Amino acid sequence: MTRSTAPSVALPPDTGLKTRVLTATNGSAGSGKSTFAAAVGYAAAKRRKKMCVIGLDKQRDVSHLLGYDDPDSNPAVPTLFDVLDELCTMSEAVVPARNTKTGDPIPNLWVVPESEKLDKLEFMLAGETARELWLYKLISQLRGRFDAIIFDCPGDVKLATIGALIAGDEIVGCVKSQEKESRGLTQLEDKLHEVHQAYAHTGMRDKVDWVVIGDGVSHQSQGKVYWDMEKQVRKAYGDAVLNATVRNDVKVPESYTAGQPVTLYAPESAAAMAYTKIGRQMKLYR
Ligand SMILES: Nc1ncnc2c1ncn2[C@@H]1O[C@H](COP(=O)(O)OP(=O)(O)O)[C@@H](O)[C@H]1O
Ligand SMILES: [Mg+2]
Repeated sequence: MTRSTAPSVALPPDTGLKTRVLTATNGSAGSGKSTFAAAVGYAAAKRRKKMCVIGLDKQRDVSHLLGYDDPDSNPAVPTLFDVLDELCTMSEAVVPARNTKTGDPIPNLWVVPESEKLDKLEFMLAGETARELWLYKLISQLRGRFDAIIFDCPGDVKLATIGALIAGDEIVGCVKSQEKESRGLTQLEDKLHEVHQAYAHTGMRDKVDWVVIGDGVSHQSQGKVYWDMEKQVRKAYGDAVLNATVRNDVKVPESYTAGQPVTLYAPESAAAMAYTKIGRQMKLYR
């Protein structure tokens, strides 16, 4: 099938690059997954790393942040759901990320736009054997083309997330330093162990490799409960927890309104600088 995608920036060829596949996830919604995927994806792309962000959430927040506000409304824009529907291949569904403000493609950054229909995933794959492997199979089409691919999971541990847990090389748990979200991390780990029991043969991870703490508080006096929660997460996950905490920063919701990664919208902001450090500590760039 031929689908024209507006900006003419070709999908990078398979050059045999070692592609790192990162799964940004947490059992709860609102834990900073989409903000992380867009911010770190852009920070790496700006440093000439070839990056691809794949959103798995019917809310389509990461698609919005990367220039595709409502992918379903434009038939020329492919979505991940079209791949499942066999309307296009996975590599045909990769389009250049766009700067919402200028409409221009963002160099080195690609995205597989999300569809509202992603909530029908379970139904769509109902008849398949080993349907949990859906994304593991698809992602092989993109390995070798990018330095890194980031999956942006929905806020639950259903089939989309399970697929990304199996397909990912590194699991990134995104937490807000608030109780609900750190429980989401526990829920995620339980799921990871459960899925690993059945799918260890794929080489999937059985633990969380990185923990990103987002939306914390800057001073203990602002909220002792949150501060203690951050300390607990750091104690429980040790070296996996990235050094920079992304503090509460108004530039993050502003960048959402602007439809841009915070690292593009306000590169000097505290949040953008923290995400930039996080990507560096993850060795996505120097
Ligand atoms: N550091 C931050 N400061 C202020 N608001 C934030 C911060 N990080 C995330 N948010 C806001 O919290 C909400 C949830 O973040 P998001 O990245 O969409 O989470 P998720 O993808 O896990 O649901 C969004 O409205 C986002 O703008
Ligand atoms: Mg999200």
